[in-house]
Amino acid sequence: MSTLVFLLSLLALGSGAPGVKEVVESLKVDNGLGRGKWGSVDLCPSGSYVFAFEIKFEPAGHVDETAMNGIKMYCKDVTGTLTGYTISSEGVEGEWQGLRSCNKGEYLQSLRGNVMPEQGTFHDDLGMYNFQMNCSDGQTLDGLNDTYHPPAQEKNEIKREILTVDGREMEAIFLTTKITDDGVWSSWASCTGNNRICGHQSRVQTNSIADDAGLCDVIMFCCSF
Ligand SMILES: *[C@@H]1O[C@H](CO)[C@@H](O)[C@H](O)[C@H]1NC(C)=O
Repeated sequence: MSTLVFLLSLLALGSGAPGVKEVVESLKVDNGLGRGKWGSVDLCPSGSYVFAFEIKFEPAGHVDETAMNGIKMYCKDVTGTLTGYTISSEGVEGEWQGLRSCNKGEYLQSLRGNVMPEQGTFHDDLGMYNFQMNCSDGQTLDGLNDTYHPPAQEKNEIKREILTVDGREMEAIFLTTKITDDGVWSSWASCTGNNRICGHQSRVQTNSIADDAGLCDVIMFCCSF
């Protein structure tokens, strides 16, 4: 599914929007969830690149937790002038966590996402939990900056046992609670050479009647400079 959407986005890129010629690569996280809808391909204005980002995050304590609900990436041009931001799509829950910015003159080149595995039918799916990006000088920026730690995931396990009561066999069902692992980091995906990240597309599940997972997957684009 994501492969198809990815091909469609490349077609969209070929259709003549400004800045199109500079996009030379796309980066994917290898653990995205196939839920929700892809937003539009959102690129920095032509000739600019991403130097900072922030994430929208809903902390634990809600009936339907969604963790990450969006990524905003800030663009500037080679003179250092802010030229805007890319957002693609955004879930309704959570708060923006504040700008994580590279040092002056540096730019963003690589990314990885922390994803909570699918929790099954009766458990709350969170989708993407955190996001990290590396700057051209090697600095790692963290979307949450250690503000929130992933909650230990509780999972109920059903155990069945046959009991004999007054000579009659009965099935007894026990619920045991097991703490499972935290989220899993994807591999790093990186622009090659001097290419710089210059836009993104995000997949978000929000406002549905079912269990929402917030931001579930992201593709980033590299431009040549
Ligand atoms: C990003 O930085 C971390 C160290 O902060 C490093 O372990 C990782 O390999 C870097 N990733 C890339 C793609 O450079």
